[in-house]
Amino acid sequence: MSEVKIGFVTVSDRASRGEYEDLGGPAMQAWIQKALKTPYTPVAKVIEDDQTLIEETLIHLADEAGCCLILTTGGTGPAKRDVTPEATEVVCDKILDGFAEQMRAVSLQYVPTAILSRQIAGIRGESLIINLPGKPSAIGECLEAVFPAVPYCIDLIEGPYLETNEDFIKAFRPKHAKKPTE
Ligand code: MTE
Repeated sequence: MSEVKIGFVTVSDRASRGEYEDLGGPAMQAWIQKALKTPYTPVAKVIEDDQTLIEETLIHLADEAGCCLILTTGGTGPAKRDVTPEATEVVCDKILDGFAEQMRAVSLQYVPTAILSRQIAGIRGESLIINLPGKPSAIGECLEAVFPAVPYCIDLIEGPYLETNEDFIKAFRPKHAKKPTE
């Protein structure tokens, strides 16, 4: 089986200029490291809040780097420079509204301003792209809410078979879903 790759994109003007430590990227990586039993190679990028650049980065990670899962952090709010959801929508073939609905619903239990995040998720080819808010604590809160459905989603788009560390997060697959034999 070919190498499993996961993309981590920090979208932040200040972090990309080095004015601000990138806390979101490492927070996403730490969470996925705990969650996944399947070995993978991380591909991390820190970029400014520029829609074209975000689109190009997502396209590169999906089509050239071959990431089956791409997580973004930041740029989901209402501020003028926040354009991560717009870029994600442009590059995706299908939008999975349920991810955003669930992430916001769960996040609202933590903080009323979760309603300000316009985060979305969608499919480009064989990649699942999920937007996360920029706040490091939001990353775990959102991933915990949707990750059980991520491995089966990646099965359905013909990506690699991902296994999770069940003591940290348990993936849900319907009973008929079969583990490939190889
Ligand atoms: N979601 C969770 N789970 N926890 C949070 O603290 N912060 C909110 C929201 N979603 C938050 C959250 C806030 S204050 C904002 S402005 C939006 O995410 C957008 O953040 P972003 O522009 O950094 O992506």
